[in-house]
Amino acid sequence: MTLSGKTAIVTGGNSGIGKAIVLALAEQGANVVIDYISHPEATEELERQVAALGDKVIGVEADVSKVDDLKRLVGAAVDAFGRLDVMVNNAGIETRTGILDTTEAQFEKVIAVNLKSAFFGTQMAAAQMIAQDSPGGVVINISSVHEEWPMPGNIAYSCSKGAMKMLTRTAAVELGPKGVRVVGIGPGAVATPINTVEMTPETLARLNAYIPLGRMAQPEEIASVAAFLAGPGASYVTGATIFADAAIMLQSPGL
Ligand SMILES: NC(=O)c1ccc[n+]([C@@H]2O[C@H](COP(=O)([O-])OP(=O)(O)OC[C@H]3O[C@@H](n4cnc5c(N)ncnc54)[C@H](O)[C@@H]3O)[C@@H](O)[C@H]2O)c1
Repeated sequence: MTLSGKTAIVTGGNSGIGKAIVLALAEQGANVVIDYISHPEATEELERQVAALGDKVIGVEADVSKVDDLKRLVGAAVDAFGRLDVMVNNAGIETRTGILDTTEAQFEKVIAVNLKSAFFGTQMAAAQMIAQDSPGGVVINISSVHEEWPMPGNIAYSCSKGAMKMLTRTAAVELGPKGVRVVGIGPGAVATPINTVEMTPETLARLNAYIPLGRMAQPEEIASVAAFLAGPGASYVTGATIFADAAIMLQSPGL
């Protein structure tokens, strides 16, 4: 149990990768704050699963694209558990639109949910981590292969993750001397609602054939990376994005 006595917040924590991260951190003994904006019943079910592992847990409804909600979220973690050690900026959305058809409202929403939330989530979490007794902690930004790799037809999303890379790197340099690590995880294709909803069997077969390991990831295969990065085994890792992508970005026709 590498995270006993630690407190973690996971944004967008009641589904997909976020839910798997909540369970992976709880399995390592962390007390967990599950942030969510919809499906309170899913949060309640997940709270029961965490409690069954013997950890403490609360659900907090907060829209992380709003700074006031983020402030309330960090405050709720400290009120409940006295400190904050791990902040996972996981909430994310996409529009599946390209440069010619993305509206101002779509662009602003993707940037607010994916990037602004991580920026101010990092700021508020770090301020708490620095101020508390035995200062220190880790911020984990759930990025994507698309922080490096263009995704035509999903351009606002790609912009948000590209900027998240620089958030991770710059904040790591600023916060390192204060004992706070800032790391990213860049998943490849993961079997979660964000990208399975619209996928036909043909699209899925084409995607799997393109991935060197031959399949999409399960959320737990991303969550295990988060548990490692949150723990003492990653004490010298900061400013880096760890790609868990089955080498999809390295795929090549072999020219
Ligand atoms: N699934 C993939 O293939 C994949 C690949 C790379 C990166 N990611 C990233 O992983 C993260 C999680 O995505 P997922 O695949 O689990 O999909 P998901 O849709 O299950 O998770 C996204 C979560 O964010 C929440 N959310 C959305 N807007 C929010 C807001 N304003 N405030 C709080 N929560 C909000 C949603 O309710 C949902 O719980 C995202 O940042 C996504 O970009 C996913």
